[in-house]
Amino acid sequence: MSQYWDAAAETFDDAADHGLRTPETYAAWAALFAEWVPAPSRVLDLGCGTGSLAVLLARQGHRVTGVDLSPRMVELARANAAGLAVDVMVGDASAPAVPGPFDVVVVRHVLWVLPDPHAALRTWSGLLGPGGRFVLVEGRWGEPAESRLDHPWWPGVPAATLEPAVAALGASVEVRPLTGPALWGKEVTDERYALLARF
Ligand SMILES: C[S@@+](CC[C@H](N)C(=O)[O-])C[C@H]1O[C@@H](n2cnc3c(N)ncnc32)[C@H](O)[C@@H]1O
Repeated sequence: MSQYWDAAAETFDDAADHGLRTPETYAAWAALFAEWVPAPSRVLDLGCGTGSLAVLLARQGHRVTGVDLSPRMVELARANAAGLAVDVMVGDASAPAVPGPFDVVVVRHVLWVLPDPHAALRTWSGLLGPGGRFVLVEGRWGEPAESRLDHPWWPGVPAATLEPAVAALGASVEVRPLTGPALWGKEVTDERYALLARF
């Protein structure tokens, strides 16, 4: 799995929502995270990729710990976050070896590649301090028949599945659709949303 993502790393930021390179896309995500993550927070960004969200969050006044399975992604994230309050390490998002507690766990587009997402959600809730939050940005990008990997939430998880899974951990949960083209650099018709959970 880490080889797959190492190979994807070089061109990963070419997608508008990955690299956040245009002012419109950056501003669209920045406005959402400013609302969702009270500053200053200790943020854990799991499956942080090239670190574009970690950088955005650090610029908003947070201290960010990023974890990613792919050494190449981590290398790029460290370079992108140089000089900011961001620590990035290689590790498994399902069982991150990080010093908690955190105020907010941020996970964008990662649950769909985890072999046991329910166990990961339980682990993440245990990393939060009192009043901690999840910000889970997820979606559903195809049908299971297209599956290439043996992961239960491939190729994406509908909000109708994720919401009860997080609520069962004792959180109050809100789902916000994320359909604005500024977020993605294009019009989207599939399901995309943020799940905001408070413990
Ligand atoms: C679709 S990308 C999302 C990256 C980033 N969260 C973003 O939104 O730009 C998925 C990321 O999850 C990482 N990843 C996949 N499985 C992982 C695991 N078990 N633990 C940690 N990271 C993982 C990949 O290396 C990749 O960087």
